[in-house]
Amino acid sequence: MKTNLSFANPAEVETECLAVVVLDHGSKDKTEVRVEAGDGADRDAATEVIASGEVTGKIFETTLLHRPAKLKAKRLLLLGGGKAKNFTASELRKLAGVAVRYLKPKGIRSLVFLAPQNIESDEAVKAIVEGAFVGNFDPDTYKSDRKDQRIDSVTVVTQGDQVKLQKAMDEGRVIGESQNFTRDLVNEPSNRMTPTILAERARKMAQEVGLKAEVYGADKLKELKMGAFWGVAQGSDEPPALIVLRYEPADAPATPVLGLVGKGVTFDTGGISIKPADGMEKMKYDMAGAAAMIGAMRAIALLKPKTRVTAIICATENMPSGKAQKPGDIQIAMSGKSIEIINTDAEGRLVLADGLCYARQLGCTHLIDAATLTGAVVVALGYVNAGVFANDEKMYERFNRATDEAGEKFWRLPLDDEYKDNIRSNIADIVNSGGRWGGAVNAAMFLKEFAEDTPWLHLDIAGTAWMEENKPWIAKGPSGIAVRSLVQFAREFNN
Ligand code: BES
Ligand code: MN
Ligand code: ZN
Repeated sequence: MKTNLSFANPAEVETECLAVVVLDHGSKDKTEVRVEAGDGADRDAATEVIASGEVTGKIFETTLLHRPAKLKAKRLLLLGGGKAKNFTASELRKLAGVAVRYLKPKGIRSLVFLAPQNIESDEAVKAIVEGAFVGNFDPDTYKSDRKDQRIDSVTVVTQGDQVKLQKAMDEGRVIGESQNFTRDLVNEPSNRMTPTILAERARKMAQEVGLKAEVYGADKLKELKMGAFWGVAQGSDEPPALIVLRYEPADAPATPVLGLVGKGVTFDTGGISIKPADGMEKMKYDMAGAAAMIGAMRAIALLKPKTRVTAIICATENMPSGKAQKPGDIQIAMSGKSIEIINTDAEGRLVLADGLCYARQLGCTHLIDAATLTGAVVVALGYVNAGVFANDEKMYERFNRATDEAGEKFWRLPLDDEYKDNIRSNIADIVNSGGRWGGAVNAAMFLKEFAEDTPWLHLDIAGTAWMEENKPWIAKGPSGIAVRSLVQFAREFNN
């Protein structure tokens, strides 16, 4: 998708469609709808339809006018943004997605978006571009009647310093495209996204954007004594992949080093503790944590913050077979801790245990892992918020700020010492499953054992990595959650 900046008078812009935001400036029960940034003809063109009461300004409301009076645009799209006082870049990002998703099935291929004036112009441009890319993605790769309905070009009309605004536009493109890169990886079914293929995709991307990439197989897992990771991988005929991506800018200090550890289970059958058939097809997205890290690394490589970042991806299938690990087995993790396997379906924490340990060995001073780790986080937070856990207040505060900036929702869950009782074992150091109650916390407590004293965040994205419904701003399917927050966090990390 092409993106352009324009400083033209909105009334003079020739386009298939001019999109504007309408907000409700009224008080509690009185609505007072106004076109944002419209101080001229675009406002006049909407006067009548607003006066009719048809346009309420409600969030995500769409109204399309043809041949709008006094505008050169063929159509005027009014996008409801809700109450003016609650309107932020986060709503604006979504509205750009709404515009794209509303227009593209109508055969419209280009649009002009008028940036609302109540948001800083560079922030607005970035949000609009990000949202437009996210909205333009559809998971229809394998449909033979794929219509390839995409918006080809978005122009943002704004005011201000051209250099600064162009930079904001480029940033929005990098972030939106990287989120979609992640979504593409997650969308692939497991027969087309094996650990080997995931490693190849990561390697190719790394080459394109100038990251160092290393890919290791089973031999390296054994050499590093990654007994927890290998315990999961041993049951599959597909070889595992340990992928290391490094961003090491010359102008960055030696420390800190941010480590991003991703769960890359390309298919989770549950192993010998096999899952029910119903819904098992969804377990192709059990590599969404890995994909988020790979997408974030792409954006980081292109946006070039002055800080070192290393990604460690633990990719494997979780399969039942004659070679598979069994409940009751004991595995020795890379850190030396012994783990009693209670449930082979609690495999994500096993691969991450060794991933976190390896990240520390590689010199990472701060750790973030992302994983579709537990069904329990979906019970706790549904499809709206992802779970975040932290052993370090400062790191949590920084991440929390990054999520706000990025417009992604995370909710903190606890890590009290009392939960440790749930992962005690009679015969080993810990068990890999702490039972049903507080399942998301138990899993995080397990990982905490391997982060040790390194500042660490754990993101459980099981409920948010796959959209169960179409939304006005984003298609049903892989969401790309965490990419934008991780990128924002990395960019602010060294300040
Ligand atoms: N990959 C699943 C978690 C999951 C569930 C992801 C739903 C996406 C949607 C994970 O490996 C798993 O199976 N977790 C078990 C852990 C249990 C056995 C302790 C779970 O949550 O049931
Ligand atoms: Mn599982
Ligand atoms: Zn899993």
